[in-house]
Amino acid sequence: MRGRWDSLPRATGEGRGGGPSRRGQAGHPGRTPASAPPPAGEGDDRITTPIRTEEDAAEATLRPQTLADFTGQQGLRENLAIFIQAARTRGEALDHVLLHGPPGLGKTTLAQIVARELGVGFRATSGPILQRAGDLAAILTNLQPRDVLFVDEIHRLQPALEETLYPAMEDFQLDLIIGEGPAARTVRIDLPPFTLIGATTRSGLLAQPLRDRFGIPLRLQFYTPEELLRIVTRGAQKLGFALSEEGAWEVARRSRGTPRIAGRLLRRVRDFASVSGIPADRRMVDDALNRLEVDAKGLDAMDRRYLRRIAVHHNGGPVGVETLAAALAESRDTLEDVIEPYLIQEGLVLRTPRGRVLGVPGWQHLGLTPPAGFAIQPDLLSGGEP
Ligand SMILES: Nc1ncnc2c1ncn2[C@@H]1O[C@H](COP(=O)(O)OP(=O)(O)OP(=O)(O)O)[C@@H](O)[C@H]1O
Ligand SMILES: [Mg+2]
Repeated sequence: MRGRWDSLPRATGEGRGGGPSRRGQAGHPGRTPASAPPPAGEGDDRITTPIRTEEDAAEATLRPQTLADFTGQQGLRENLAIFIQAARTRGEALDHVLLHGPPGLGKTTLAQIVARELGVGFRATSGPILQRAGDLAAILTNLQPRDVLFVDEIHRLQPALEETLYPAMEDFQLDLIIGEGPAARTVRIDLPPFTLIGATTRSGLLAQPLRDRFGIPLRLQFYTPEELLRIVTRGAQKLGFALSEEGAWEVARRSRGTPRIAGRLLRRVRDFASVSGIPADRRMVDDALNRLEVDAKGLDAMDRRYLRRIAVHHNGGPVGVETLAAALAESRDTLEDVIEPYLIQEGLVLRTPRGRVLGVPGWQHLGLTPPAGFAIQPDLLSGGEP
């Protein structure tokens, strides 16, 4: 029943999956200079991008407010609940928390929840925003005892500021340099005990001494379809949108394991339903998502271009990530942070020391047969990063 909405404007952006990304062009390896790239989300108009876009302002309505409301990440949630309770009972600041995981899995949401559950204030900033030690000092000295300071994209903090953070995190002390030249002197300021919550998509880019100062490192995982089903069902209720259970399953299965994408697909499906007047059952949702070019596994044109590139141009790999990035006109950072994590988790692609290799499910998904003699060599699977 395609074409039922032919009179509707297409909801996808122009040139999806094409064109050079404007994000993260500062390159790799090493850290991105804090001033260079525009904020995350700019220049990516794919419906399935896990990166936050302007349209996602609406997601605040779907944001869970309490730990009990927060679906999924069970182990992490249980641990966090214990640490929060212990800190509350002792009347102490919670130990510093590092939240690590792909975009859109709930890092910011969790940080806000932690502050709420602790019953303390929440201050938010981000690595690229903080330019000078003075900016950081102003924030730190204005904290109330036990407050949460959330530093998003902490891997993009300037190295000099990182060093300011070390004594602040460890001893709640700040060394400030006053004056210039020979008259300059250092003053030590006592800070209230506080909790730093850092969020990063790239914990590998964090300096080891900084990483070591987080007592509670937590890694977020992609959500299972069952967890996403609960998130989608709840979201539909909050939006007052009559979505059938099978329809909700369809959204859940096609959300790339990511609540942000689930919320976005849900809102788009609701648009289609309200304009067409068709009840949101499985078939209607399937139609709507096909129209948005989100396939049965939740992959979009860019994901398929990536997989096809490895299959067709490199006989299934291995191929280096730089080569792929150049061929697809994307930055290496975008491939590694945004495109690959889900494809790797689903076994569509394997990351090997010699480059990316198409996995068996990858060939299947493209409907292609691996060339004769293609085999994933066991030696490819040993070792670390390429
Ligand atoms: N466990 C969850 N249950 C329900 N909704 C969730 C959950 N986690 C995240 N969400 C939804 O997904 C949206 C994106 O989450 P959030 O902004 O916390 O992701 P993030 O990890 O901080 O992403 P980024 O790396 O881009 O900053 C939230 O606004 C919320 O609506
Ligand atoms: Mg965030």
